[in-house]
Amino acid sequence: MDNNKNRAVVRVPGTSANCGPGFDCLGLATTIYNYLDLTLLRNGKVIVESTGEGAENIPRGRRNLTWQAVRRILQEVKREDEFKGAIIRMRNNVPISRGLGSSSTAIVAGLVAANDILGSPLNRNDLLRLATELEGHPDNVAPALFGGFTVSVMNEGAVQTFSFLPRVKLKLIVAVPDFELSTRLARKVLPRSVSMHDAIFNVSRASMLIAALVEGREDLLPLAFDDALHQPYRKKLVPGMSAVFEAAKSAGALGAAISGAGSCLIAFTTLRSRLEEKIAAAMVEAFKAAGVKSKALILDVDKHGAQIMRR
Ligand code: HSE
Repeated sequence: MDNNKNRAVVRVPGTSANCGPGFDCLGLATTIYNYLDLTLLRNGKVIVESTGEGAENIPRGRRNLTWQAVRRILQEVKREDEFKGAIIRMRNNVPISRGLGSSSTAIVAGLVAANDILGSPLNRNDLLRLATELEGHPDNVAPALFGGFTVSVMNEGAVQTFSFLPRVKLKLIVAVPDFELSTRLARKVLPRSVSMHDAIFNVSRASMLIAALVEGREDLLPLAFDDALHQPYRKKLVPGMSAVFEAAKSAGALGAAISGAGSCLIAFTTLRSRLEEKIAAAMVEAFKAAGVKSKALILDVDKHGAQIMRR
């Protein structure tokens, strides 16, 4: 049944948005991956098969997010009459609803795989525009597409992204608690306006974070991961958050933050410090003391973004 000409396999990294002070604009790609094996069909069947993280809860049929991305690109390039369905096979490693960009991987995978099958009519910036439209914000889809760190700016509905590889060799420690957190809820607890003091707090740190990463100034990073715009309000949604941050820093982390809208917490250290195991154990222990079961992932920054594995 599979027609190889109409098939592509892609790998897309999980991501961590915000990175502390960069609310809704900074993101980074990590070395945990979801895989999509996509076949475009001329008939109208949408077949979804998934294994791994959250497999039992992933929508089948036309409600599936990857299908929606595939359909969107088919519309964009005016080929929706040619391909009316798809076989979507997913192998997922990125935990669902934990702030590691699982929905972005589903969207980006669908766009990149379908674009490849269609002969690459769209470039990565076009794909970023469609992915941002589908996801609603750019801070996870941008690193999922480009890899590395990304800075994204929305201007009258259009997205502009700068992506770069940090000159500090970072290790990422992600504490994954055993509960999900919806982004909608995590946004509902945020205030409608913030003080000038808090705005300056974040603008200065976000700027310092990017400057330090671009220039390889590890010495400036301990200042740079703190936030006053979203984390203080989300604290009540992640029991033990402050204690986990403190534990990570006491174990030697340069800084710690909520990953995206949570529930994962992420700490940053350098490759050469070799402190990642110690930091991971301290974070899991601090979560435990707050009554939360968790596991730790030790990851690197992904350098490639979404990649075609085979055609
Ligand atoms: N920047 C978004 C938020 C990320 O923190 O709400 C959601 O994935």
